[in-house]
Amino acid sequence: MTAAKKTHHHLIDAIPLGGIVTVRDRLLEMQAQGKKILRLESGDPSFGIPEHVREALEKALRDGHTHYTAGAGIPQLREAACEKMRQQNKLPVKGPGQVLVTSGAMHGLYVAFRAILGPGDEAIIPDPTWTETADNITLAGAKVVRARLDPERGYLYDAAAIEKVITKRTRLIVLNTPHNPTGAVLKRETLGAILQLAHAHDLYVLADEAYEHVIYDDLPHVSIGSLPGAEDRVVSIYSMSKSFAMSGLRLGYLTANDDRLIERMTKLLRCTVNGVNSATQHAGVAALKGPADATRKMAAVYRERRDLLFASLEKIKCFKPFKPAGAFYAWVKIGADWQGYQGKRDGWAMTNYLIDKGGVGSAPGDVFGPAGAGHVRFAFSCPTEQIAAAAEILPTLF
Ligand SMILES: Cc1ncc(COP(=O)(O)O)c(C=O)c1O
Repeated sequence: MTAAKKTHHHLIDAIPLGGIVTVRDRLLEMQAQGKKILRLESGDPSFGIPEHVREALEKALRDGHTHYTAGAGIPQLREAACEKMRQQNKLPVKGPGQVLVTSGAMHGLYVAFRAILGPGDEAIIPDPTWTETADNITLAGAKVVRARLDPERGYLYDAAAIEKVITKRTRLIVLNTPHNPTGAVLKRETLGAILQLAHAHDLYVLADEAYEHVIYDDLPHVSIGSLPGAEDRVVSIYSMSKSFAMSGLRLGYLTANDDRLIERMTKLLRCTVNGVNSATQHAGVAALKGPADATRKMAAVYRERRDLLFASLEKIKCFKPFKPAGAFYAWVKIGADWQGYQGKRDGWAMTNYLIDKGGVGSAPGDVFGPAGAGHVRFAFSCPTEQIAAAAEILPTLF
């Protein structure tokens, strides 16, 4: 019995504990020891939630919204999200019945992958990609297949590169715009070409649009689900974490017009969270229906931080930074002229070097997939003072 337990392999064993978490824990420990640390390792908005959202949250608690809710979400939130996706994302959502409320976009990815994929199936993701996208595919028992993003093409997801890795077992193409970790923003033509592929090979498309409102230089955010013919193929996933700085409140939503998928995902919601925190859902209604100026202001501040950080990264000879058009990450290729640290020259060596020598946090590119080797990612979601301090320190370290 004991021996069998020891040799038993579980698919969760294939998932790492999390590279960025490892970095964060180290930074927190150093901070606790009184060291000055700049938190550019993970993407958590520095802002408080908008005033009207906080008021709605407090009111929800006062009004006694502390009980179980419908597993798929409170009707008011499903309606507000339906309206928002119709108006802003131009999605042809049939009605609130097609909208499911999730505990963040992360949970949305989990239920969508579980509803679509199974053992033997393959899902294509961009390389590099946000780590948890790949991990949640593994959790669904399916195989992660990576399509490399080409730096020469501005890290844009390329239909031709995707087509090369499609097999008989492919069930799903994942796209993420604006993209974590590169900050690339996909254009309508690219989305159209990916949708055509989905039609030609009878695939689903999962669109992770968590950063839809963190976008710069007046670029539009285009939802693939709004393109003609997308109706039954696309699952569109949204997050309240970045748009409204509600990351710790854990709220997201998704939509799909495929009723079979909605039924499967509704079952998954019941068996995973059985309804997201009810007060948070009421805050979500206020966020989606209320004024958008806080969201716009945050995007404007992220843009200032991007420019501040990018100007500094550009000064470093061994850094090749990519200027992000969206999301709040700066993706940097480490040049061959970097001398290395402790005998190593990979992303982890760079992350360790920056922490040890400058107290600057970052995420090693390796955690985002094979294409991330030799890269490092800086998040500029922490307070502007920290970005300014990092911008000053970084060039002095090389
Ligand atoms: C690309 C991407 N998708 C989804 C998420 C998850 O967001 P949430 O906080 O809503 O779970 C993140 C969070 O960093 C992300 O980077």
